[in-house]
Amino acid sequence: MFKPALSFDDVLLVPKYSEIITRKNICLSVKMNPTQEDANKQIILRSPIISSPMDTITESQMATEMSRLGGLGIIHRYNTIDQQVDHINSAITNGVQNVAAAIGASGDYLDRATALHDAGVNIICIDIAHGHHILMKSALHELRQLFGESIHIMAGNVATRQGYEDLVMWGANSVRVGIGGGSICSTRIKTGHGVPTFQSVLDCSHSKYAGDYPIIADGGIRTSGDAVKALAAGADLLIFGSMLSGTKETPGEVLMNKSGKEYKIYRGMASPQAQIAWKGKFSSNEGVVSSVAYKGPVQEVFQDILTGIKSGISYSGALSILDLQAKAKFIKQTFAGLGESRTHIHNKSL
Ligand code: XMP
Repeated sequence: MFKPALSFDDVLLVPKYSEIITRKNICLSVKMNPTQEDANKQIILRSPIISSPMDTITESQMATEMSRLGGLGIIHRYNTIDQQVDHINSAITNGVQNVAAAIGASGDYLDRATALHDAGVNIICIDIAHGHHILMKSALHELRQLFGESIHIMAGNVATRQGYEDLVMWGANSVRVGIGGGSICSTRIKTGHGVPTFQSVLDCSHSKYAGDYPIIADGGIRTSGDAVKALAAGADLLIFGSMLSGTKETPGEVLMNKSGKEYKIYRGMASPQAQIAWKGKFSSNEGVVSSVAYKGPVQEVFQDILTGIKSGISYSGALSILDLQAKAKFIKQTFAGLGESRTHIHNKSL
């Protein structure tokens, strides 16, 4: 038999007895390096939200705002080293404490990592589509040789518990989990490969490393409800692309369509358009380009997501993410249940 693989829409959390009087009592803070005993070296975020290292999501403006709001922004790598360093400098000027930036696992990645480190980055994200790979193994080895334990290394993406455990054993401090579930991904269509992000997170959460090496759910989180399900399944942190797309702080102009509606571009990094913009040609085609309605400042979007997450945690009678993970009870919902779960008012013309 095939192993069942559940998606966010396949499950619901069962509401539990709660003594939470106000959502203000719910703590969303997360330790990115739980095994670190030296308090001065701990990296603690006030909320578990990370903006994706994509060229239409995170440069210095988004990184700055994410930091101010208690999350983290990872400055993307689809530029020259100098351009990426400029973004880092600007974020550090703006007062960003935890500066995160992405690199690849081939080409100039070591020069890039060194430049990022010299510029003051304390979190480096090895950002490759198929992270359970020999290039990841050698990149992690090289980075540890260069920097020892002085930087936090986030690595990914992987889809399986074996992938998560191998990346931890190869030297990663935290792992991005999710392949092919992103809103702009066409990897599953083009390659037939992938695992629903919810299932990947659930599988990784059963690892002996879970709790010490953060699991970062990445791809396919569409609502704060999905975010709560990912956290309850074992994710410590969440990476958002589409949820933050179209906001003021994302790179790119606000455009206007023929009906006068404002929008911005959000695109997959494996889309031909993104690759051509970056290196003048494309070698794969596993992502799409989309226009999204302009959403205004990210602060409002962020607060709305946080409100939903806190409300979700309180429905499980929990006070924190760890408490949620201990108390969460999932049920599988039927197709009819999914219909009921969605807003389903029948609109009658007035
Ligand atoms: P969401 O659903 O939040 O997903 O928009 C964002 C995540 O999608 C991944 N990503 C891609 N995956 N082709 C893919 O298969 C792509 O072109 C692509 N671009 C981004 C990435 O993990 C991101 O955080």
